[in-house]
Amino acid sequence: MSIPAHIIEQIRNSSDIVDVVQDYVQLKKKGKDYTACCPFHNEKSPSFYVSKVKQIFKCFGCGKAGDVITFIREIDGMSYVEALKYLGSKLGIEIPDEPMSAEAEVKQTEKESIYIILNWAKNEFKRLLTEHEEGKSIGYSYFKERGLNEESIKTFELGYSLPQRDYLLKEALKVGYTESQLESAGLISKRDDGSISDKFRGRVMFPIHQVSGKVLGFGARMLGTDKNAPKYLNSPETAVYHKSDVLYGLFQAKNHIRAAGNAYLTEGYLDVIAMHQAGVKNVVASSGTSLTVEQIRLLKRYGPSVTMLYDGDAAGIKASIRGIDLLLEEDMEVRACLFPDGDDPDSYIKKVGAQNFETYLKLNSKDFVTFKIGLFADEDSNDPYKRAELIKDMVASIMKIPNAIRRAVCFTQCAKALAVDEQMLITEGNKILLEMQRGDRARARREEELQENGAAESVQDLLDEINPPIQLGDPLLAAIEQYERESIRMVMQYGDRLLADDYYVADFYEEELSQLAFITPIYDRVYSIFRELMETGQLPTSEYFLKHPDQEIQQVAISILTVHERYKVSDIWFNKYEIVIRYEEDELKTHVAKDMLRLKLKNTDKIMRDMIQKMADSTEEAELELMTLLLGYQTVKKTIAEQLGRVVG
Ligand code: CTP
Ligand code: MN
Repeated sequence: MSIPAHIIEQIRNSSDIVDVVQDYVQLKKKGKDYTACCPFHNEKSPSFYVSKVKQIFKCFGCGKAGDVITFIREIDGMSYVEALKYLGSKLGIEIPDEPMSAEAEVKQTEKESIYIILNWAKNEFKRLLTEHEEGKSIGYSYFKERGLNEESIKTFELGYSLPQRDYLLKEALKVGYTESQLESAGLISKRDDGSISDKFRGRVMFPIHQVSGKVLGFGARMLGTDKNAPKYLNSPETAVYHKSDVLYGLFQAKNHIRAAGNAYLTEGYLDVIAMHQAGVKNVVASSGTSLTVEQIRLLKRYGPSVTMLYDGDAAGIKASIRGIDLLLEEDMEVRACLFPDGDDPDSYIKKVGAQNFETYLKLNSKDFVTFKIGLFADEDSNDPYKRAELIKDMVASIMKIPNAIRRAVCFTQCAKALAVDEQMLITEGNKILLEMQRGDRARARREEELQENGAAESVQDLLDEINPPIQLGDPLLAAIEQYERESIRMVMQYGDRLLADDYYVADFYEEELSQLAFITPIYDRVYSIFRELMETGQLPTSEYFLKHPDQEIQQVAISILTVHERYKVSDIWFNKYEIVIRYEEDELKTHVAKDMLRLKLKNTDKIMRDMIQKMADSTEEAELELMTLLLGYQTVKKTIAEQLGRVVG
């Protein structure tokens, strides 16, 4: 499907990147910009910047950068069109939906078609719950019985699956979906004998949403008390559903978590919905898996603190207490709250009511030190061995905290609570630290060995690795800049090498570059200097540029020619760079030809793009003229691409 150009423009112009990013990470204002810990890689201090003025984001840690559309695409794995739709819906801009035939949908990429079919299935389950006789009498009344109101059922898009063997399959085929699509979406199961049946039958359905609201899969609860069937059945891992990366309820909770700065973490689907209904809306569930690092990083985008909610069984809690260490390791503030008598949040709300529930949470949420000590001390407070174990355990947890000040505070608190000498705890902690460092060094060594054995893929890959291109905003301009830089580097580094009899690399570049206009001002300046040099009959050398009187030129030369200097610390990098240089020298001819053709190709792309933009607001006459020109460039582009194909091949 294609979105009309004027609507794309409208969406681009009216989106505010700060607003959009805000939905995913907590931004802090810093001068004119906003900063946060980067959502694309794991970091402890913020190097992710959003500029309201330029409407771009950039991470100085991992290098990810771009505009509002890039951000949405990267963070939610959306396609270009999906990202536009998402932004459009946020702005209330209607995007005319061309009616899509079932066949057209089939043609979409696998992921997209999975999303579409999951969305369809979700709507089908919803419809069955509220419109189908059986759905109403069995499914809907089950939810009512469990105390859910209409609003909760709507908010969480709950549904019902009929018990028939292949109801959903048949319906789906009718609408035009295929068996294999249903299979990749995890909605049907195939048995060894080849028979097919619906995966979810006779269950109430809990759609699992992505942060942006798309359905990724389902959790399904049985209704009866069949001892042979699992109480909950979940979607299998698919191309879109990875259970360790998802938190149930985050879509509905994210804004509430941001507002509260804290998220409640529980286990069950119904716990989330019941708490939400009781007015505690900053709540998510790990849905039966033990908490993963990915889930924690997801949560961290919305707030710095987490309160774990535990059902009352001590053995169970001790088993899942590792979650606390993981949270500490990710620099989260951790609290925990225990429910009495084996109650979970859902059942406890039923028992005491929403108001009392909230009060209970407030009174019984403890910081992790108090919580953990309380948990262990309850039973074994007098056994000296158990006590020693508890102390060691506490120290190990505290040592997970990356922030030194927080760590110190916890040590003080822990020493008081356990009535032991604080210095003793710290000494214990340092021992652990030492062991960890040893482990780190061993890991680093293994990584180095791996790198040493890994073979270089291609020169460009190596160069990219050594000196990664920074992509800012427009990818086309970024590509041109990168190739311009490469041309300049070739001139500086190899200008005085021969390509053929009496034909230098510099000659080649002088000839070729004269047909182009540099877009990067500083490279354009280097280029003029290079031309002047040639006019006076001299060849450029790296020496010449490195010692150039103009500070700026000198700086560029240094940064272009001495990339490997920055990596001097590691011999591996240096060796790699040496390999690159040797390789380049052997292949100088193909290398310069290739790079030049790539630069020309990108330049042609840009010229054509500029023309198309110009066409939009020109008179009919001018438009015709531009069209003719455009066709000419199309041919040029084809020729360059063919040449490039020959050189590369
Ligand atoms: N779970 C699961 N598969 C199971 C059992 C549980 O995926 N066979 C997950 C579900 O997400 C469930 C959570 O683990 O919500 C907690 O399980 P449990 O405590 O057994 O159930 P409750 O959430 O209390 O479910 P209910 O109140 O509906 O009995
Ligand atoms: Mn329960």
